[in-house]
Amino acid sequence: MENDISLDLPSGSAPRATKARVDEARSAGDFAEAVLAGLTRTPRSIPCRFFYDARGSELFEEITKLEEYYPTRTETALLEAYGSEIAELAGPGRMIIEFGSGSSRKTSLLLSALGEVPAYIPIDIAAESLKEAAEWLSGQHDWLTIVPLIADFTTTRALPQVARGKRRLGFFSGSTIGNLTHDEARAFLVNAARLLGKGSTFLVGVDLKKPASMLLPAYNDAQGVTAAFNLNLLTRINRELEGTFDLTRFGHDAVWNAEAGRIEIYLVSLARQSVRVLGRAFSFATGERIHTENSHKYTVAEFQDLARAGGWHPVKAWTDPDNLFSLHLLRLD
Ligand code: AVI
Repeated sequence: MENDISLDLPSGSAPRATKARVDEARSAGDFAEAVLAGLTRTPRSIPCRFFYDARGSELFEEITKLEEYYPTRTETALLEAYGSEIAELAGPGRMIIEFGSGSSRKTSLLLSALGEVPAYIPIDIAAESLKEAAEWLSGQHDWLTIVPLIADFTTTRALPQVARGKRRLGFFSGSTIGNLTHDEARAFLVNAARLLGKGSTFLVGVDLKKPASMLLPAYNDAQGVTAAFNLNLLTRINRELEGTFDLTRFGHDAVWNAEAGRIEIYLVSLARQSVRVLGRAFSFATGERIHTENSHKYTVAEFQDLARAGGWHPVKAWTDPDNLFSLHLLRLD
């Protein structure tokens, strides 16, 4: 079941199509169910997609500007350096479909490299970020037709009418694919292939494996912005699910799991305590953790294998001189 909502862009900068379609899967009930199930299971875990309420999206934007958090500026530099080569290999005149578009800042670089595109469909679950991003982007590229889709990009099954008959370029930036398990990432790539269709190309940003001494500060920054981002999940539970989490009694931790090739983020109970959510009590021992995020890192070869397993053919990969981040262009034959 889908609804249309107007994104209400400012006059003068409004793109030709400003409708968003609401995917009802991401309802309040979904959050409640995931939190209650996540706090009941052992070990405890809550999916990272729930980080992104309005405050969580703001905090994530702050993270992307931190000195320790190299992925955003490195990926941006790659798009600046290789934009025209990417545009040439991706193919001309394609509609851009962006998965988990967030602020769409990097999309602007891609658009500048591609020149006029038939339309841009950003897909994101965070309605407010989607609206702000569409406003900002239409100010940067006033010719651009933007058709935002408010949806969970991992399960989107259909594109708006405007995509009919157009060749497509998918864009999945920021290494958000790393927040999925390997099985989820493969399933995402299979679904993206179905959604984008034969003859499509797909540009994916992927964080590279590197020493823990560089990874850990990126997920545990000195200013505590990542800690605030993680703890905001508890604020959201308190506000939306009658939660009683005392934020002074929980901390943030990030660890590198070398075997799994991923950073893992946890909320850690700093005391023995009991917390209520929607009337149910959950007790925590001192040091007990809630797993809130995985951020997988891949070598270029590992990601190319994953892309093949998802049905895509690797065309080319670009990396920066310090081997921090990679951009992969894939093709669906
Ligand atoms: C959105 N995603 C790719 C970020 C990452 O690096 O895994 C989320 C994040 N979590 C903590 N810092 C950044």
